[in-house]
Amino acid sequence: MDEVTPPRVGGIPGTTRPTRWQEAGWSGNYAERFAGLVAAGEDVDGEARLADALLPRGARVLDAGAGMGRVAAALLRRGHDVVAIEPDEALVRQARETYTGLPVEERDILDLGPEDGPFDLVVCVGNVIVYLAEGTERAALAAMRDVLAENGRILVGFHLQDPPPHARRYAPAEFEADVAAVGLRVDLRAGSYELHPANDAYGVWILSRAQA
Ligand SMILES: C[S@@+](CC[C@H](N)C(=O)[O-])C[C@H]1O[C@@H](n2cnc3c(N)ncnc32)[C@H](O)[C@@H]1O
Repeated sequence: MDEVTPPRVGGIPGTTRPTRWQEAGWSGNYAERFAGLVAAGEDVDGEARLADALLPRGARVLDAGAGMGRVAAALLRRGHDVVAIEPDEALVRQARETYTGLPVEERDILDLGPEDGPFDLVVCVGNVIVYLAEGTERAALAAMRDVLAENGRILVGFHLQDPPPHARRYAPAEFEADVAAVGLRVDLRAGSYELHPANDAYGVWILSRAQA
């Protein structure tokens, strides 16, 4: 296992390396799209339903790269103890306004330390992994590993085909090599949050510590 210390280079003001999300300038479109879906009462809870199925009642959950807070809020409604972290200031504001009572911190995954845990589940869904700052994937995986409870798990999901603008392409084999390099293991790979079989279009992974 490689020793990976998360560098302090993430997408927060005053740091050196922007996330691909910041480079994309995509925040406004995403914010507007999800505000519209929430206002229209559309289903935006798919990822949260799978996350909830992985957890005992009243579990401790970190939503890493929470965006406008939809997944974290859905898990809070299901009775979990949830913390959302998100480095994009505008999205932090939107999450706090949309979901009053949801704890949202303006923070980068790379700034997490073991003292922030332990969490039963870290949720890192909706393409967060492919919008990290270039070259920080292993550090981000290691930072999430370090906040896991003893039997904690990480739920990750991202597009494999046609990634959204400015997102990287992350082949499953490369992702799984990075997972193994930081001492995590793949418990499950599926093709959707409803656990369809693995496919080339979308990847959903459940990860845990290789040696619990
Ligand atoms: C497509 S949005 C998804 C947001 C949310 N997870 C959802 O599914 O609605 C991608 C998010 O990844 C976040 N992100 C990218 N790099 C990050 C990092 N290093 N730490 C935390 N969040 C990050 C962006 O700020 C953005 O909110």
